[in-house]
Amino acid sequence: MTKSEFRKRRHRLLGMMAADSIAILPAGSLKTRSRDTEYVFRQDSDFWYLTGFNEPEAVLVLVPGREHGETVLFCREKDPEFERWNGTLLGPEAATDVLGVDDAFPIKDMDDILPGLIEGKSRVYYTLGQSEAFDKRLMGWVNHIRSKVRSGARPPGEFIVLSHLIHELRLFKSAAELKVMRQAAEIAARAHCRAMQAVKPGMKEYQLEAEILHEFARSGAREAAYTSIVGGGVNACILHYIDNRDTLKDGDLVLIDAGCELDMYASDITRTFPVNGRYSPEQKALYEVVLAAQEAAIAEVRPGNHWNHPHEASTRVLSQGLIDLGILDMSLDEALDKEAYKPWFMHRTGHWIGIDVHDVGDYKVGGAWRLLEPGMVLTVEPGLYIDADDERVDPKWRGIGIRIEDDVAVTPGGHEILTAGVPKSVADIEALMAG
Ligand code: GLY
Ligand code: MN
Ligand code: MN
Repeated sequence: MTKSEFRKRRHRLLGMMAADSIAILPAGSLKTRSRDTEYVFRQDSDFWYLTGFNEPEAVLVLVPGREHGETVLFCREKDPEFERWNGTLLGPEAATDVLGVDDAFPIKDMDDILPGLIEGKSRVYYTLGQSEAFDKRLMGWVNHIRSKVRSGARPPGEFIVLSHLIHELRLFKSAAELKVMRQAAEIAARAHCRAMQAVKPGMKEYQLEAEILHEFARSGAREAAYTSIVGGGVNACILHYIDNRDTLKDGDLVLIDAGCELDMYASDITRTFPVNGRYSPEQKALYEVVLAAQEAAIAEVRPGNHWNHPHEASTRVLSQGLIDLGILDMSLDEALDKEAYKPWFMHRTGHWIGIDVHDVGDYKVGGAWRLLEPGMVLTVEPGLYIDADDERVDPKWRGIGIRIEDDVAVTPGGHEILTAGVPKSVADIEALMAG
């Protein structure tokens, strides 16, 4: 991602702001894992989207029309002693050149400088409620300005949620973003293929997880986009199963929901395949229903359709499938009307995906489902989950959980399946596993 890509994003946001306003966006912070060890730092998604800067203890400030530059960064100063232990810091001197911001100051000077930038602005764009500590600091600065009104100071009159503006931008992926997302998808697809080829009855779920994570890491995606789900047999019916400790049994399916984070962009793939390499007739019958539902939903991804069209398509096909298999005993209209599929398909067909796996952006606009437009990227992931003790269905269907998930970009002519590199038909999966 180039410096000019980030500059373009900041200028788009500046263009959405009122004159006479200021936007304030703090970076993410380090989080303790235990005692004195920390989780790997993950930058705040909005902050990264606008800066490409990967350090904590920083704040981006946008001031439309400011004479000495509209984009201002506060960040840590260079510190050889600190850098000896913890790695290089960018420092404000280099920040203007490296990040392309107009102006940069040491974060330790923020209390002296930022109130002066807020003073006289009628509107502050800031997302309250994300950091209690920063909310307090901001209120401190504002109250300081308020205390000086008799000397002519002008405190801001309006506070507006900043994230909503940024999220509207993030919903539409640029060519550069789609390029990275394609790569993240290819890595995840390779990882799923590897798991299909590695699986054997008697293996532990975590051993398949290790195959997945190995492929991510060796491809440069050192973080998963979310904790991998590897559920053998009935574990597949727990939607967010991450225990991954059971033994994979001959005759069971295994559901893997895993995606990587590459250069801050997520992929999110689910495949469900037989531990022994061959689907049983019942597994195959249910699998074909989910696959048909997923393909019908993907076919609805095109400009002009709305957000709910893929979900409507998948629930229609799933319902018809449940009727055909004798699990539901009613007409299709009645099944859809009553949402009779819900005991076995209880989640939505997808979500936006991007810098966050469950990415930002409104799903409804003015009360109506949002129209799909080129540049949007979503997942399509219908499933069927039949618990081991589900007495509503014939015992032969019980204990089977299936989900199939791909990442799909809306293009001017329809869609592009970013995750097409991993097979999903019964024949293709069995062939890969046999090979
Ligand atoms: N892996 C999370 C999801 O599929 O939404
Ligand atoms: Mn998933
Ligand atoms: Mn998903």
